[in-house]
Amino acid sequence: MDVVDLTRVVCALHELADPGARGFTMGNGDWPLRGFVVRRGTLVRAYANHCPHAGFPLNASPHAFLAPGAPLILCSMHGALFEIQTGRCVSGPCEGLGLRALPVRVDRGYVMLEEGVRLEEPVDLGR
Ligand code: FES
Repeated sequence: MDVVDLTRVVCALHELADPGARGFTMGNGDWPLRGFVVRRGTLVRAYANHCPHAGFPLNASPHAFLAPGAPLILCSMHGALFEIQTGRCVSGPCEGLGLRALPVRVDRGYVMLEEGVRLEEPVDLGR
């Protein structure tokens, strides 16, 4: 029987506004995977919550990842802006660098991390 792997579910698609974003923590131990999922229309992407500038989480409050009035991801620490589709920084102190993409898919109304994504922080995020 084909079942949804609940350990891979980030959220239900209907929990994401359009445009909208949602932070998540998945996995156990000292270094669970911290990321966020972002939606714009039919586009759904996920990224590690780790700014390539100084390594801080992007959001200052829960689920606050989008720039007000613009279809861009905002790092609240020093104002870097990133494309939703690619995670590439288009403005700010890390221009040209990119967020770490986390492969996701939408399956039966759920946003799910792909099987190969480890549920722990990537070891090369600079900690
Ligand atoms: S830590 Fe994100 S812009 Fe500085």
